[in-house]
Amino acid sequence: SKCNECDFYDECDKESKVIRLSGAEENVSEPIDSDLGLEKEEQELESFRETVTESGEIEKTTQTPIKKEMKSTAIKVGKQAISTPKTLADKEFVPKDAIGIVIQSEQRGYLLSTEKSNLLSGAIKQEFQRKLYPGQVLITANEKIKEMPSAIVEVKEIKSFPKTLSAPFRKIDMFNILIETSPFMYYENQRYSKVLFPANFSSHYFRLPSKPELMRIMNLFGEGINLGLVTYEMLENELPDMELIYKYPFSFKETGYKGIFVVGSPGKGKTNLLKILINGISQYVGTRDGLPPAVIVLDITGQFGQLNKPTKNATTFDEELWKLMDMKIVNKLKVFKIIYDCGDGTHTLSLNAIDPELISLLFPELPPTSSTNFKRMVKMIFKDYPAVDYENFTNKINEIIRRESNTLNAQVAKAIQGAITNGPVDIFDQGGNVLQIKDILVPGQVSVIQIDHIVDKMPVLLYLLLMINRKKIYENDQTPVIMVLDEAHELFPKSANPGEKEYLRRVSQSLIRIARRGRKKHFGLIFASQQPHDIIPEIIGVFQTKIIMGLEATSGNWIKDTLGREYVTLIFSLGQGYARIWNAELHKGTLVPLFIPKAPNKHEED
Ligand SMILES: Nc1ncnc2c1ncn2[C@@H]1O[C@H](COP(=O)(O)OP(=O)(O)OP(=O)(O)O)[C@@H](O)[C@H]1O
Ligand SMILES: [Mg+2]
Repeated sequence: SKCNECDFYDECDKESKVIRLSGAEENVSEPIDSDLGLEKEEQELESFRETVTESGEIEKTTQTPIKKEMKSTAIKVGKQAISTPKTLADKEFVPKDAIGIVIQSEQRGYLLSTEKSNLLSGAIKQEFQRKLYPGQVLITANEKIKEMPSAIVEVKEIKSFPKTLSAPFRKIDMFNILIETSPFMYYENQRYSKVLFPANFSSHYFRLPSKPELMRIMNLFGEGINLGLVTYEMLENELPDMELIYKYPFSFKETGYKGIFVVGSPGKGKTNLLKILINGISQYVGTRDGLPPAVIVLDITGQFGQLNKPTKNATTFDEELWKLMDMKIVNKLKVFKIIYDCGDGTHTLSLNAIDPELISLLFPELPPTSSTNFKRMVKMIFKDYPAVDYENFTNKINEIIRRESNTLNAQVAKAIQGAITNGPVDIFDQGGNVLQIKDILVPGQVSVIQIDHIVDKMPVLLYLLLMINRKKIYENDQTPVIMVLDEAHELFPKSANPGEKEYLRRVSQSLIRIARRGRKKHFGLIFASQQPHDIIPEIIGVFQTKIIMGLEATSGNWIKDTLGREYVTLIFSLGQGYARIWNAELHKGTLVPLFIPKAPNKHEED
C-alpha cells in the first residue's frame, strides 16, 4: 500500500512526531565544554522545543535537559565544534560493516528536520574516501539499540581532514574523512518513511545500503530494460562489489512513452547509451500487449546503420558485462536512406503520406499571417488531387494564387509563393520508394532513417512525426513506437536568427503537442543533446526521464536548477559511461547512479 503523504510504498507513520531519545542510557553525565561554541546550538534547541511544545505534539520526556543525559567528547575542527560520544571513539564498538561514524552533537541531533539544521556530520574510513560521491545514499544504524530508526542519508559534501587536526581522533584514527550528509528518509520497524522527525544520532555509524535496501530506497524496479549498473564506483575493468542492474521500467505507468532526454558533453557516451536503449527497447516484450516497440531512429550523424552488427574489438570485461546484463544486439534492422536532390538513397518522401492539415509545417518561411490562406489552398488541392506530387502541389498553389489575384491580399500571396519556392523541394518525390508509415511501424524493427547527407533535416523529422501522428490519432493505432534523435540541438537550437525562431517555435509546439498526445497512444521520444542550454527549454520539459552524463562548466546553472546545487561538481566529474538518472516520479527524489557499458553493436569507428 502507498502512503498518500509521501507516496512511498509503505504507509508512513505521519502522526509520530515524537522526539526520540534512544541511546541515552549509555551516557553518563559529563559537561559539554562551553568554549566550543555549542551555546548557540543550545539556544536554537530551546527555540525548537518551544515550537514543538506549542503545537502540542511533544512528549514529556524531551523536556529533560539533555546535558544531564548525554556524555560527549567535543572536538574542534577548524572553527567548527563537533562532538562525539565516547562510546563511538572506541574502535571495538564499531561493527564490521561500518564505513564511518556519525559525529553529531546531540543538540544538532535534536534539531534535525527543522529548517535550521538538517545535516548529519560524520567521519569516514580512509579507504572509502574514493568510493564516496555527493548524492550517494548511506544508512545510519545503531549497533546497540536495534529498534532505533535508521536514517537514510545522502552525502552532500566530502571534506578532507587536515592532518594537524588528527590528534583528537587518535582513538578513531581509522576515520580520516569528514562528511556532511542530509537525511531524507527513515527506516524503522521494517517501514520506510519520508516524514523526518528530530532524532539523536549519536552512537550511530554509517554503512552502505545492501542491494535490497538500495532498491527500496531508490524505488528501483525489478522489471524493465537493462540500461546499466547501479554503482558509484569507478569500474576499472572489474565488476563492482554489488551487481545491481538498473532496469528502466518501460511499462510501469507507461514510463517508456513519457520521454527520455540524454545529455552529456562530447565523448561522454551519449550515442553509446542510445544504442543500448535501442537494443533493449526493440527486444522488450513487457509492453501492454506483449509487442516489442517499433523503434525509429532519425540518424542525422550516420552512426546507427550498423546496429545489427556485433562489436569486433570487445574486451573480456565488455563481454562479462553484456552477459551479466543480458544484452543482445538488434535483430531486426532496416535502413532507409532518404534521397536528396536526386542523389543516391533508397527512399523519398511524399506529401500524401502526411496530414494535409499540417503540411504548412513543412514550409519554414510561411509567416503565421498567411497560414490560414495556405491551409485553405492545401485543402482545395487535396480534395481534387489526393495523390498530388510535390512539383504539382507547388504549381497548383501558384495557380490558385493567380486565380484569386483579385481577392487575395498581395502580401499574403507573395509570402506563400516565397515559402513554397524555399520549401523542402529536394527531399520530396525524388524517385525511389516512398517512405510510408507501414514500412516503419513494425513491432520489434529498428528503422534507421539516414539523413546525415541532407542539409535541411527538419522536414524529415516533421514528416516522420506527422506520419506517426496521423496513424495514431486518426486510425487509433496502438503499436508501441519510440523515436530516437541524437544531437537534437542541431534541429532545435536555442539560438537561431529571428526568422528561424518563429518557425522553430511553431515546430516545437507541434512536437510538444504530438509528444503529449502520443503518450496515451504509445508513442515516445528519446532525444540526446550535448548541452542542455543549447536546446529550446520547452522541449526538454517534455521528457520525464533525464539521463545526465558528464557536463561542462557552461551547464552549471542548468544542473543547479534541475537537480540541485550539490550535484554541480559531481556532474562535472563524471567520466565516460557514467550517468545519473533523474525521474521525479519513479525514484522518489533520488538520483540513481549508473554505469553504462559499451554497447555490443559495431561502432562507426571500429
Ligand atoms: N561505457 C563505455 N565504456 C567504454 N567505452 C565507451 C563507453 N561509452 C562510450 N564509449 C566509447 O567512447 C567513445 C565516445 O562515445 P559516444 O560516441 O557514445 O559519445 P558521445 O557522447 O555520443 O559523443 P559526441 O557528443 O561526440 O557524439 C566511443 O568510441 C564509444 O565506443
Ligand atoms: Mg554522439
